[in-house]
Amino acid sequence: MADLLIKNIGKLVTPLGSAAVSGEEQGRAHVMEGAAIAVTGGKISYVGEQAGAPDAAEVVDAGGRLATPGLVDPHTHMVFGGFRQNELEMKLAGVQYLDILRGGGGILSTVRATRAEGEEELYAKAADFADRMMRHGTTTVEAKSGYGLDLDTEMKQLRVISRLSREHDIDVVATFMGAHACPEEYKDRRDAYIDYVAEEVLPKVVELGLAEYADVFAETAVFDIAQSRRILSAAKKLGLGIKIHADEINRIGGAELAAELGAASAEHLLQASDAGLDAMAESGTIAVCLPTTSFNLDKNFARAKLMVEKGIPVAIATDFNPGSSPGYNMQFAMTLGCLKLRLMPAEVLCAATLNAAAAIGRAASKGSLEAGKDADIVIWDAPDLNFIFYRYGNNQVYSVIKSGKVIV
Ligand code: NIG
Ligand code: FE
Repeated sequence: MADLLIKNIGKLVTPLGSAAVSGEEQGRAHVMEGAAIAVTGGKISYVGEQAGAPDAAEVVDAGGRLATPGLVDPHTHMVFGGFRQNELEMKLAGVQYLDILRGGGGILSTVRATRAEGEEELYAKAADFADRMMRHGTTTVEAKSGYGLDLDTEMKQLRVISRLSREHDIDVVATFMGAHACPEEYKDRRDAYIDYVAEEVLPKVVELGLAEYADVFAETAVFDIAQSRRILSAAKKLGLGIKIHADEINRIGGAELAAELGAASAEHLLQASDAGLDAMAESGTIAVCLPTTSFNLDKNFARAKLMVEKGIPVAIATDFNPGSSPGYNMQFAMTLGCLKLRLMPAEVLCAATLNAAAAIGRAASKGSLEAGKDADIVIWDAPDLNFIFYRYGNNQVYSVIKSGKVIV
């Protein structure tokens, strides 16, 4: 007897497997009509015809609706003080993102707010975001530090992330991003700041087991390729996985660096060169596309179709943060995945589930509806995938099941 049975699923759509998929495979979703899913001990114990499903202590009637894996958001900066709505009018007046940062605003204004915020308050705010994410279908999320830029505040952010993963229903994967910007105390001393992060902050983070990945903002006027290589190599040597905010605004060779270092993922990639993408295909680095950021900053969109053609596994994330992407709704990111990245619905679903899970090292346990995987499931107020992606602007979740527990 199972713990939970989800019966009367009109259509079940899921990618299959325990690793990132690429090329034509990315668009090959498994579709099943009239299905049921059983859950035992928080894991999926049965996926198949309703007639063969086991009895269960609790039953959820999907009422003929669509079921997919829980969404995985593999790139967020969800622990931060304050908000930055003050930048809206600057942006509308034409001030560029990097110019706001150069003027001491942008990321640096969130750094001031995050340093000033107490740990409890930061936790309460992040937990509230996590509640809302789950109600929108996200069951696993990656969260980066990088609004501290000093040992104490980076630790504070990482402790909040770690507490969230212990105490909240959502699953959280932590990434250390001490190299997110150069703090004001190190103005014009970027190399010295990189030394500080590599020699003093990073070893502490690793010693306390507070992060699985390290990330860097490789960008003109932020960290150049040599500085990015230095910090990521140090992280790799200490056993962390590697991610890189690469070629977002300017083409500086971020995609090439990601491939060179064997990064798990490279993010943004709006300006990535053909050679950089070829190198990523070769190294198996996942491209994490962030279409809501392009939308919010009024920039071009990553060349996702070309990435798929080249055999790069493509994932989609929200990049949720108070500046370049102030929303945590994966449904909106998925709609833009279709309308702006020009991916097909099945490719987008894979990008937001299995490939997203792979980008944060969770493809063995998440990202598809298969026996043995975690029972993270979304039932949608929709008959099929197209319906969710074309009807943007409202929350289309009917029910969310996390590790077998009915959340919504
Ligand atoms: O991924 N590009 C750098 N970092 C974030 C933005 C952070 C912020 O603006 O606060 C991003 O877009
Ligand atoms: Fe980001």
